Amino acid sequence: MSSGPIGVFDSGVGGTSIWREIQQLLPNESTIYLADSKNAPYGAKTKEEILSLSIKNTELLLQKGCKLIVVACNTATTNAITYLRENYKVPFIGIEPAIKPAALMSRSKTVGVLATKGTLSSDLFHSTTRNHAEGIRVIEQEGKGLVPLIEGGSIYSAKTRELLEQFINPMLQEGIDYLVLGCTHYPYLIPVLKEILPVHVQIIDSGEAVARQTNAILKKNDLLYKEAGIASHQFYTNADAKILNDFLANVSIPIKIDYLGF
Ligand code: DGL
Repeated sequence: MSSGPIGVFDSGVGGTSIWREIQQLLPNESTIYLADSKNAPYGAKTKEEILSLSIKNTELLLQKGCKLIVVACNTATTNAITYLRENYKVPFIGIEPAIKPAALMSRSKTVGVLATKGTLSSDLFHSTTRNHAEGIRVIEQEGKGLVPLIEGGSIYSAKTRELLEQFINPMLQEGIDYLVLGCTHYPYLIPVLKEILPVHVQIIDSGEAVARQTNAILKKNDLLYKEAGIASHQFYTNADAKILNDFLANVSIPIKIDYLGF
């Protein structure tokens, strides 16, 4: 079983930001990535829809022999991971907005969270915020419209910048010193965000923490790949493969990207 790949899924290309962190930390591990771009954005869907898409992705990754699944999507994690953990045998690693470190480090005691509606409205997000941000003002902002722009490759467009300014400026007026990126698509916006944010505002996301947790859980379950060999990396998308190709164009190791109807 330890020779099986790590499965990773997201509503689209965003989770590749997490895949990069995992691949860097665990270069011997093979991976299979599912980009459910056909159904993006998950953030605007109901809890039931997000759950049923998460089940579909999980079952496909299990059919392909994955030994552990990384839910590389805050929206799917906050709405579906409890169900997935209760109903499937493999370990699941999820991703949630990094409220806790931001709250611990904030001097202004005010942090901003940019995430999807699905994440901000979830019970898991509410309980994390309650438990880890006591005495901190958390300014929540839905990043409405950002995921379709990122999926469409329009990261540097005027529309994207306009939306980001519209979302970020009120947070700056409230005095945030940390901006939590609560969606795995948003790290791709960091170059634009850096142009908008004053230097004293730090951007924080959970990618590295997810990779470390993946390593820890593989170790704990004796699932780390131990033999010599070359890791393989297969990406599947149910939309135009060019999108994923463009996002992964700067990856320096061999990867395979294919269309799959799922
Ligand atoms: N990348 C996802 C997340 O982390 C989902 C975005 C979406 O499909 O709305 O929340």
